Amino acid sequence: MVRGELLFDGNVKQVYATDDPEMVLFHFKDVATAFNNVKKAVFPNKGIVDNKISSYIFEYLKRNGVSTHYVEMVNDREQLCRKICIIPLELVVRNYIAGSIADKLGIEDGTKAQTVIYDLYYNNDALGDPMINDSEAVAIGLVSFKDLEIIYSTARKINGLLLDLFGRAGIKLVDLKLEFGKTSGGEIIVSDEISPDTCRFWDSATDNRLDKDRFRLDLGNIVASYEVVLDRLESLNLE
Ligand code: TMP
Ligand code: ASP
Repeated sequence: MVRGELLFDGNVKQVYATDDPEMVLFHFKDVATAFNNVKKAVFPNKGIVDNKISSYIFEYLKRNGVSTHYVEMVNDREQLCRKICIIPLELVVRNYIAGSIADKLGIEDGTKAQTVIYDLYYNNDALGDPMINDSEAVAIGLVSFKDLEIIYSTARKINGLLLDLFGRAGIKLVDLKLEFGKTSGGEIIVSDEISPDTCRFWDSATDNRLDKDRFRLDLGNIVASYEVVLDRLESLNLE
């Protein structure tokens, strides 16, 4: 596999073409951003830990029958992924109330949600990623209702699988953010990354935060906390 031109230079990831037109290379930088890029800093080795955690999770999802863009980890910072047409939506799945929804509803961070919450956002930086509802997303041509059915049922399955995985690792899966894309054959698959940058992970015993809230809230020990997540996952004995 040969690395080609830089296709996309994101805040925390770069995407490169490869010599296979169906494949791209994701490169994880040592950067953290929050609040739509208002806050940004470099943390040595963060990209390596993110790449390893996301690769671990995508491998686990693949073994459990979830179609994703992930193919394989190529080295510490890079993974090979299928090239897809990105759907500009983010689906946040919440098992506990935390972050923006805690502020919005005036409920204490860490309160268990009485049902799983699915919040859909339009991935559009210029608009500040507003919340969008299903019929709005269909009405402006982002997806079809059939696509949304697949997206929600995949999200439900992933949430169940990850609740089980992280439960075994002694970690509360507070929330997670998913993105999806379409293959050239029209299949909807999970894309982007699943990591402490895109989920809230709390230690089950102490409620200590092991995710990007350490950066958002200036709690320190960011990479060390991400490493706790990776170590716990890697020490699980999965069949
Ligand atoms: P929120 O508290 O901002 O609603 O975020 C909920 C979860 O989704 C949290 O784990 C962070 C993640 N997330 C992203 O990964 N990217 C985003 O752009 C947003 C808004 C949330
Ligand atoms: N859009 C922001 C980001 O992911 C939201 C956040 O995580 O605070 O950088």
